[in-house]
Amino acid sequence: MSVIRLEYRRVSMHFMQGGNGRLTAVQDVSVAVGDGEVVSLIGPSGCGKSTLLNIGSGLTAPSEGDAFVDGERVQGPNAHVAFMLQKDLLLPWRTIAENVAFGVEIQGVAAPERKRRAQALLENLNLAEFAGHYPHQLSGGMRQRVALARTLAVDPTVLLLDEPFSAVDAQTRMVLQRELAQTLKRSGKTALLITHDLQEAVTLSDRVLVMSKRPGRIIDEIAIDIPDRDDPLKRRQHPKVNDIVNRLMERLDIGAPDDAVQGRA
Ligand SMILES: Nc1ncnc2c1ncn2[C@@H]1O[C@H](COP(=O)(O)OP(=O)(O)OP(=O)(O)O)[C@@H](O)[C@H]1O
Ligand SMILES: [Mg+2]
Repeated sequence: MSVIRLEYRRVSMHFMQGGNGRLTAVQDVSVAVGDGEVVSLIGPSGCGKSTLLNIGSGLTAPSEGDAFVDGERVQGPNAHVAFMLQKDLLLPWRTIAENVAFGVEIQGVAAPERKRRAQALLENLNLAEFAGHYPHQLSGGMRQRVALARTLAVDPTVLLLDEPFSAVDAQTRMVLQRELAQTLKRSGKTALLITHDLQEAVTLSDRVLVMSKRPGRIIDEIAIDIPDRDDPLKRRQHPKVNDIVNRLMERLDIGAPDDAVQGRA
């Protein structure tokens, strides 16, 4: 693998449950994501995917093990990592351009440079004409694009994306997937993407990691050996996609009856 940009080494996470002992959300997870690589993380609800992303972003400290970005141990939120969530979290009182520049402003970048970066990103994401609008004047899909622009504006090494498109309709989602894929390709950024959409995982990624039910462990890893990573719509047509999606469904036990352990968890 090329230079490793994001790494989890033997990470486990336990949460104390008020009066009910402790819950192990993530168990002994080791993952390495190389420079420019896009990796998807899939797994059943509650298996610890968001917990892992929070650890990578420095928002949560792991109980055991460590996360590293560019070889440095993650010890708190830092400028090398940017985070995008299901909810866009735009600030309603700021214009679109001011929202995009928000993270950069916190970093202390001067106003003219902030403006320049915001404008360039908005142009790339076909939002330039909305720079002066407010979030409530945009559709949900447009707001997610603004959130993506804001994530990219800080010029992070690693992008952590937690179900970024789950709240938008299926058609907008395809448009956003393509925009994300092109942006990732163009910028050469490294990304870890959480999604419940198996086809999305396959069409956007170089590699898909499958997690088990809680306590979440990595139980499978599939390299996506399909051309055109910057064109998910084209990839969708590739005959291999269905085979991989089927394999992922098998690994996730989709279609099988819920196993009895759940009641005891
Ligand atoms: N701050 C916390 N305190 C206590 N328990 C937590 C906390 N954060 C997460 N958990 C628990 O850890 C487990 C994993 O949660 P997490 O949000 O990582 O799951 P997930 O895989 O992202 O699920 P989903 O697909 O539904 O988003 C869950 O059982 C959750 O209740
Ligand atoms: Mg989650």
